[in-house]
Amino acid sequence: MKLRLNYFLFLLALVFSVTPAFADDPKNFKEVMQRIERDMSKLVGHIMKEEYADIIAVAERVANHEEPPLSHRLRLIAELGTDFPNFKSHDDNVHIYSVAMQEAAEKKDIDAVIISYGKTMQSCNNCHKKYRERVQKLKF
Ligand code: HEC
Repeated sequence: MKLRLNYFLFLLALVFSVTPAFADDPKNFKEVMQRIERDMSKLVGHIMKEEYADIIAVAERVANHEEPPLSHRLRLIAELGTDFPNFKSHDDNVHIYSVAMQEAAEKKDIDAVIISYGKTMQSCNNCHKKYRERVQKLKF
C-alpha cells in the first residue's frame, strides 16, 4: 500500500510537470505567487477598461502560470503527502476559472468575465486559508 502511494505521488510529480529550467524561471513558490498576483492586478485594470484582448492574454498566463523548480515541487509533494491532491485541486480551480475568464472575454461578456475573475480569486484564497502557513514553514 505504501509503495502504491509513493508511486501515485511520483506520477503526480510527473503530471505536475517536467519543464526545463530557464534563467527567468521563478526561483521558488513565493516568486510564482508574486507573478500571479501581478497578473491578477493587471486584470482588474483591463476589466475596468474592457480591454478584451489583454484580458485574454493575461488570463491565459494565470491559467498556465509558471511553476517552482522541480526539486521544490518534489519536496512539496513529499511534505504534503496525501494532502497533495487537495492542494493541487485548488490550483486546478485557478486554471478552470481563468480559462472561463478567457472564454467570457472572447465573447466580450464583461459580466461573465467579472464572475470568473471572482471565482479565480476565491480559489487563490481557498488554498491560502488551508496551506499558506504550512508551506511557509518549509522555507523554500
Ligand atoms: C495551490 C495553492 C495555492 C493557490 C491556488 C494559490 N496560492 Fe498563493 N500562495 C500559496 C502558498 C502556499 C503561499 C505561501 C508561499 C511562501 O511564502 O513560500 C502563497 C502566497 C501567495 C502570496 C504572497 C507572496 C509573498 O510575497 O509573500 C501571494 C501574493 C499569492 N499567494 C497570490 C496568489 C494568487 C493571486 C492566486 C490565485 C490566482 C494564488 N496565490 C493561488 C498557495 C496558493
